[in-house]
Amino acid sequence: MDALECILSRRSVRNYLDKEVSDKDIETILEAAKFAPSAMNNQGWHFSVITNKDWLAKMSKIIGETFSNPNYNVTYHAPLLIIVSHKDGNLIYDHDGSCALENIFLSARALGLGSCWINQLGEPILYKNPKFMELLKEAGVPEGYRVIGSAAIGYTNEFPLAKERKEHTISYLK
Ligand SMILES: Cc1cc2nc3c(=O)[nH]c(=O)nc-3n(C[C@H](O)[C@H](O)[C@H](O)COP(=O)(O)O)c2cc1C
Repeated sequence: MDALECILSRRSVRNYLDKEVSDKDIETILEAAKFAPSAMNNQGWHFSVITNKDWLAKMSKIIGETFSNPNYNVTYHAPLLIIVSHKDGNLIYDHDGSCALENIFLSARALGLGSCWINQLGEPILYKNPKFMELLKEAGVPEGYRVIGSAAIGYTNEFPLAKERKEHTISYLK
């Protein structure tokens, strides 16, 4: 797929098929993530790759309870979640992690997969919950790291149309 077509046709997908993503595709997505730019080439991110259904269900339960929405499936039943975490304490780490996440979304699109940024795992209130912290540990998020964002990924039959883009967001000085 042409790079520009990939960028313009990527959409946030919130409905996934019950079909596993292959290890080969996961490796390709992680390679794309690792080749994102990072400030001073820091590459300080960590990628946790989760396909374990029990873990995903537990995470949804904890987040649902925290936000008073017990039936909430935070990852929209996607078969794969990639958590991007980084050392806490510097806004630039959020920028690095966000670049990696966008590479994840675009490479997923190029492979015919849907994806969506899942923000809730970074909510500060969850970091006071020992059950949540235990799940992050199980997922391999290093001690002292904070979740920048995570990517739900999977096959889909849903191809949302792009929402209208706002006008007046660009200025030129020629
Ligand atoms: C920082 C950030 C956080 C987001 N968090 C969520 C989220 O928690 N759940 C969700 O369904 N979508 C989330 N999204 C996806 C946005 O809702 C989506 O990108 C936006 O509506 C535009 O749609 P598009 O991605 O299809 O162009 C997030 C996007 C960004 C950039």
